Amino acid sequence: MAKPVLKWAGGKRQLLDALYARFPETFDRYHEPFFGGGAVFFDLEPAAATVNDTNPRLVNFYEQVRDRPEALIARLREFRDPEADPDPELAFAEETRRGKAVEQYYYQQRARFNERAYADAWPDDEGDRLEEAALLLYLNRTCYNGLYRENSDGGFNVPIGRYADPDWVQAERVRAAARALAGTELRNGDFSYVLDAAEAGDLVYFDPPYEPMSPTADFAEYSAAGFDRDDQERLLEVARELDERGVAVVLSNSGVTYDRYETAGFSVEREGATRAINSDASSRGEVDEIVATNVPPEERRGPDQSALDEY
Ligand SMILES: C[S@@+](CC[C@H](N)C(=O)[O-])C[C@H]1O[C@@H](n2cnc3c(N)ncnc32)[C@H](O)[C@@H]1O
Repeated sequence: MAKPVLKWAGGKRQLLDALYARFPETFDRYHEPFFGGGAVFFDLEPAAATVNDTNPRLVNFYEQVRDRPEALIARLREFRDPEADPDPELAFAEETRRGKAVEQYYYQQRARFNERAYADAWPDDEGDRLEEAALLLYLNRTCYNGLYRENSDGGFNVPIGRYADPDWVQAERVRAAARALAGTELRNGDFSYVLDAAEAGDLVYFDPPYEPMSPTADFAEYSAAGFDRDDQERLLEVARELDERGVAVVLSNSGVTYDRYETAGFSVEREGATRAINSDASSRGEVDEIVATNVPPEERRGPDQSALDEY
């Protein structure tokens, strides 16, 4: 049982039992089209799988973890404490590209990370790709709240965190994740690839960016996350088509999507998971969440099965 290497918004560790209870007892290949931190995948460690995310930096990170874990660990061990002085041997030791003074090692690494090309302009150079992955993990483990957040122009903008003794290497987690990812196909695109990848007898778990709970929820912010109502509609269609083809589907989403999935013939249940959809702590609360599936009750793994795994 591996653990997620990155802390990622919408991590699913607290929902694992509810999800597993709807998984079929047996399946062929496993597919996770909205990978993020991959909490379910790493816990499940499927023998054969495809995973996907639209974020190119995230997918590059998992490629490096899978293909070069020891090189990644060795590089991470060379990083310094986030509050140390900037490294004069590296770029941005004094100021960022925008001319802001750089006084701590953390901000130098953030400036380096933000300078690097990504998306269409990915460097072919393997060393560059390794450096990019190392920077992503270093920043994820030393930034405030440990969450990944980008500006509208794609820059990572989270300030330094306060940790007594941050561990940005996590060698054992990286090694366990590399073993879990061995034999997994990693993709960097839209979730709809799964229509080509999944066959009857396979299992697909969808964990999209959640639709806002109410019309008053900040839809602009939600759209900035790159997933709007049209995407939600496309997702429903993809889930429907997979169902028709005999692929097992399990999906988590916010409570507002309950009726849509039920009308489409899925079995839907509410899970009262706590999930912060607003960064303002005072308005965080119990947000209801649904889990939808087309797996018939008699074919499900059921609640007792996951408890047995403890032994
Ligand atoms: C809720 S997160 C998944 C969280 C994950 N289950 C975990 O445990 O950490 C949703 C992910 O979907 C990705 N995403 C957004 N739009 C997408 C799209 N059209 N196709 C595939 N992935 C997308 C985001 O980059 C994000 O990582």
